[in-house]
Amino acid sequence: MDHRSGAVTPAAQRLSRPLDAIDVPHKKVEKICCLGAGYVGGPTCAVIAFKNPHIQVTIVDLNAARIAAWNSDVLPIYEPGLEDVVKACRGKNLFFSTDVDQGIIDADLIFVSVNTPTKTKGMGAGYAADLGYVESATRHIARVAQGDKIVVEKSTVPCRTAQSMRFILEANSRPGIRFDILSNPEFLAEGTAIADLMNPDRVLIGSLNTDAGRSAAASLADVYAGWVRREQIITMNLWSSELSKLAANAMLAQRISSINALSAICEATGADVDEVGYACGLDSRIGPKFLKASVGFGGSCFQKDILNLVYLSESLHLPEVAAYWRQVVEMNEYQKKRFLNRIISCLFNTLTGKKVAILGFAFKKDTGDTRESPAITLCKYLRAERANVAIYDPKVAESQIWLDLTEPGVTDDLADLQKQVSIAEDAYSACAGADAVVVCTEWDEFKCANLDYKRVYESMNKPAFIFDGRLILDQKQLEQIGFHVETIGRPRSNFTTPKDWE
Ligand code: UDX
Ligand code: UDX
Repeated sequence: MDHRSGAVTPAAQRLSRPLDAIDVPHKKVEKICCLGAGYVGGPTCAVIAFKNPHIQVTIVDLNAARIAAWNSDVLPIYEPGLEDVVKACRGKNLFFSTDVDQGIIDADLIFVSVNTPTKTKGMGAGYAADLGYVESATRHIARVAQGDKIVVEKSTVPCRTAQSMRFILEANSRPGIRFDILSNPEFLAEGTAIADLMNPDRVLIGSLNTDAGRSAAASLADVYAGWVRREQIITMNLWSSELSKLAANAMLAQRISSINALSAICEATGADVDEVGYACGLDSRIGPKFLKASVGFGGSCFQKDILNLVYLSESLHLPEVAAYWRQVVEMNEYQKKRFLNRIISCLFNTLTGKKVAILGFAFKKDTGDTRESPAITLCKYLRAERANVAIYDPKVAESQIWLDLTEPGVTDDLADLQKQVSIAEDAYSACAGADAVVVCTEWDEFKCANLDYKRVYESMNKPAFIFDGRLILDQKQLEQIGFHVETIGRPRSNFTTPKDWE
């Protein structure tokens, strides 16, 4: 077969069973409950409610402040388009509540969308997912459920978690109640969550290959069929579905680490990483997405899921596989350190007492989320170099920045931190008096067309350096203003050697 044609192989046809192929008698879902009103549970279930006015959706969370925010005018997360969706159905068929018991009792189908952070202590610390919240949510369902439930893993979990959930449910519930477990991983990316949910590449539903499993899968598929084409709703076995989520995130992160590894070669050879990425991306087998070099990937998923895969591989006695995936994370750490080293060496090998402006603190644009943001690592490194750091981000709350830069009980307190770090109200005040500006997040407002870089330049110490960690700046334009521009994946400028010294 021509591998460029994109034709569906017989194996793919067999595995990707569109719903019609498994059309079995099934129950219509009338009430949904989602445990966990976070970045995934909130937007996903809001869109489900929006697209299914006949289904009552209740999103519950133990965190009362978070629920209050969902019920207010200022939602707890920033996501373009989310507010319109929530306002259109809140109070009609979409509810936010702290009454977890009632939510569970009422629902036919329950999404488990609680967080699964990397374990910090004990066996697998630093790698394995902490399933404590998934387990307590599962026990909660078992304790209060009064009738049959379809329980759906939305959280990203290690392969075969569904088996543990079923065991816990059956061991702790009232006699005669039936639980069907499905895996339905979420592929939305923050910043584009609503668009991703409205128009997904695919919806994945994993179930046991039994009549009951297929019937539960068909019930959930019906919910998505409210707006997703049937052929995009893919059903498969539970373990494939669980692993597919980890695999997809690992492959996406691997592409970024690959292009970032190439960015180091570009810097040393005079190649331009944007041009290399463009040239590679035109090959239809490679494709153009996720080839943007950067200061490093962040977000709540990539690192956590790869480490989870590393742990899984090690547990399965596959050390070579574990080492392969671990390298993706190591390359990401290396990229952040490399960027810092470039800043230090450009600033004449010392940052002591110099002001460095950080533009962007979120892990990517269009979100206020800072989880695993490369800006956090960079700020910590800059502090260790005794630089004064001024941070500006259009969407990240000030309190979040302080939280990210302190480790209560481990390192210094807030008062110490605030001697070295300040938070600015806009980009101009962050940059005023700075020796260097570092773009950490690709917010549109930092692009040359949207920020007055002449004004920035005039307010800075000279020589004025700008480090582009996201490849969003127009290097030539900035050089004309007078900046020394350093961009990831482009060679270092030789500004310190006067022509007659070469
Ligand atoms: C999700 C997934 O669930 C996670 O597995 C995936 O890897 C990333 O996306 P996310 O929505 O980003 O997590 O997490 P978070 O924003 O922290 O939301 C989880 C919510 O669950 C929190 O609001 C927390 O209060 C709530 N929670 C947690 C409960 O209501 N009950 C619990 O027992 C634990
Ligand atoms: C990711 C997956 O894309 C999504 O499918 C999954 O459900 C959750 O994890 P998210 O972390 O929200 O989504 O954002 P994503 O757009 O994937 O970006 C992750 C990180 O990679 C960001 O820090 C981003 O800036 C970085 N990135 C992305 C690059 O550095 N280069 C790229 O080309 C793409």
